[in-house]
Amino acid sequence: MHTKIFTKRELKDAADLIRKGELVAFPTETVYGLGADAFNPYAIKKIFEVKDRPSDNPLIVHIASKKQLYKIADVPVHLKKIVDKLAAKFWPGPLTIVLKKKKSIADEVSGGLDTVAVRMPNNRIALALIKKAGVPIAAPSANISGKPSSTCFEHVFDDFDGKIAGIIKAKDCKIGIESTVVDIVSEPPLVLRPGGVTVEQLKKIIPNIKVARHKRVVKARSPGMKYRHYSPNAKVILFKGSAVKKMLKYKEQLEKNGKIVIVIKPEGSVRFSKRLFKLFRQCDKKHIDYILIQAIPERGIGLAIMNRIKKAAYKVIK
Ligand code: TXA
Ligand code: MG
Repeated sequence: MHTKIFTKRELKDAADLIRKGELVAFPTETVYGLGADAFNPYAIKKIFEVKDRPSDNPLIVHIASKKQLYKIADVPVHLKKIVDKLAAKFWPGPLTIVLKKKKSIADEVSGGLDTVAVRMPNNRIALALIKKAGVPIAAPSANISGKPSSTCFEHVFDDFDGKIAGIIKAKDCKIGIESTVVDIVSEPPLVLRPGGVTVEQLKKIIPNIKVARHKRVVKARSPGMKYRHYSPNAKVILFKGSAVKKMLKYKEQLEKNGKIVIVIKPEGSVRFSKRLFKLFRQCDKKHIDYILIQAIPERGIGLAIMNRIKKAAYKVIK
């Protein structure tokens, strides 16, 4: 298949493809998404095929207006206030809200769950594309399953050239890691995936919100999270606490055995989150064997950064 590259001036053509049931990758402020018409089950099936994604890993539905939310999700009276507050504060932005799903959304989107995850992205191109398509756009991150998410056009091109109908070429994604996924149907409300919106920010609106840390809980509420994610080819080793002192010794030892090793010292900032997946992909291109990473405090955006590093890690040394 020929993959058409669109500029931001050609969004109407890209939207036409979405309406015809084709797949178009588009930028958001978090990571690139691989979009399809959320009302079209055949288009949704293509997403799972090209990504090689397990069918029980549900997709996020992207909207461009609050009105669209009510067409795809049920907002019961007791949740209306919270939804309104979250939307007013964080939309458009890196917050995904899980609600009970309406029948209009293809079952394939939510992988058999009775809920749907909804987000209004904070990116002009994404919002214009959804508006022009006239339908909500279901989109996972635009990467082959198990690879780091794509944070720039080139990474999407590497993964999907020849496999999808179109890619919108735009600037690098600003945040670089995926949205925060919040399940407000469960009691207490749960952060299923930490991301661009921090838990500290969410607590101001939902004081009893909890971070789902237990694997069993996460798996039941969000089956997709059980899969190993974000892994570069290199072996990622995470060093925590006093073990950080051993990092350089490890490096020497591995290099003595002929391995190519790099050391990463992250920071808990958006400046760093923006670079993380790019670093992983660069390591793959350079055939790095080991990435040694120092842990950072799990607060603010640091929680989301550590979450992605832990998922990429093959070993944690404490
Ligand atoms: O920032 C993002 O969220 C990006 C951009 C493109 O918007 N999208 C993204 O999609 O990261 P994806 O498919 O890579 O991750 C979606 C996550 C998965 O972990 C999935 O399990 C969870 O959201 N999810 C989707 N629908 C859900 C639902 N109904 N209930 C619970 N979790 C859900
Ligand atoms: Mg993903």
